[in-house]
Amino acid sequence: MTSVKIGKTNVTTQPLGLGTNAVGGHNLFPNLDDQVGIKIVRQALDDGITMLDTAFAYGMGQSEKLIGQAIQGYDRSKFQIATKGAQRVTANGDVVIDSSPAFLKQCVTDSLERLQTDYLDIFYIHFPDGKTPLNEAVAALNELKQAGKIRAIGVSNLSMDQLREANQDNLVDIDEEQYNLLHRDAEAERFPYLREHQISFVPFFPLASGLLTGKYHAETSFPSDDIRHDNPDFNGERFTTIVNQVEQVEQIARQHHAKVAQIILAWYLKNPDISVVIPGAKHPAQVQSNAQALQIDLSAAEYAEIDQLFSPEKLQ
Ligand SMILES: NC(=O)c1ccc[n+]([C@@H]2O[C@H](COP(=O)([O-])OP(=O)(O)OC[C@H]3O[C@@H](n4cnc5c(N)ncnc54)[C@H](OP(=O)(O)O)[C@@H]3O)[C@@H](O)[C@H]2O)c1
Repeated sequence: MTSVKIGKTNVTTQPLGLGTNAVGGHNLFPNLDDQVGIKIVRQALDDGITMLDTAFAYGMGQSEKLIGQAIQGYDRSKFQIATKGAQRVTANGDVVIDSSPAFLKQCVTDSLERLQTDYLDIFYIHFPDGKTPLNEAVAALNELKQAGKIRAIGVSNLSMDQLREANQDNLVDIDEEQYNLLHRDAEAERFPYLREHQISFVPFFPLASGLLTGKYHAETSFPSDDIRHDNPDFNGERFTTIVNQVEQVEQIARQHHAKVAQIILAWYLKNPDISVVIPGAKHPAQVQSNAQALQIDLSAAEYAEIDQLFSPEKLQ
């Protein structure tokens, strides 16, 4: 598959990357094994996946540290690292969001050290702090870009008004927001804006935390300490509707001798408004399986069928 270019930069990458919040993200998921995390990253690089998407917040530096270890021995020019910051840990251990220019510069310095690398291909402002004017936060990242410490300026978790403020000087290269076939709000206003301003889009939760892989059934229930227990997608009539929709993707999967997750990922890969898809994984086998999506070329009819199947009015 041809590589994609990020925003207005010369950063290029494969359109299927790896989400690494389950690599060292002990604050997000129970029972993670750091050695498995390292294997997940190496499996991705060995399978030709080149974009590694991480953040300070995944394990408060642990994901970045494990990636720093995993990439030893790999040619740095052959893969891209995207990380995020804006979380400041206070003296008493609380986490506060700080997207001030000075703190973002500190975040980049610290991420470079944990990742054992000289530059970041993308640095995202993970969250806005609600105080710092976003164009000033982006201007600080532009200084780091000019200095060669980062190659592309990213933003995440912004409303449309915040995105416009951040991109006031047309410096934003890439936007990472929640988007998947179950949550398609970005299509109305965000996608046209990003297209017009040459900003790449990365959807997070592409597999809806596993719901779009076809492994759940209407009878599946989740224990109260599982985050899916209270997630509306995994509850009631909405959950049953989604499970039925996903079952219908199985017919297309069979035609391609593929898995449902691979077909869903292939749909994003064919979507012109999506730049890089970054499914997460808990095991190297999931990475290996998801990488196969790059080999699947959905026909225009199949693409339209999936588009219709998950049209927003069917999921009120
Ligand atoms: N910018 C932000 O604020 C933000 C927020 C959230 C996430 N992210 C990024 O987006 C990435 C993707 O999000 P995500 O990982 O939370 O969710 P996701 O990609 O929607 O789902 C990933 C999960 O689905 C399951 N899975 C993956 N491949 C599978 C396969 N082939 N078969 C069956 N199950 C499979 C695994 O969980 P189980 O095995 O437990 O089912 C995996 O952890 C993250 O890793 C992170 O890098 C960014």
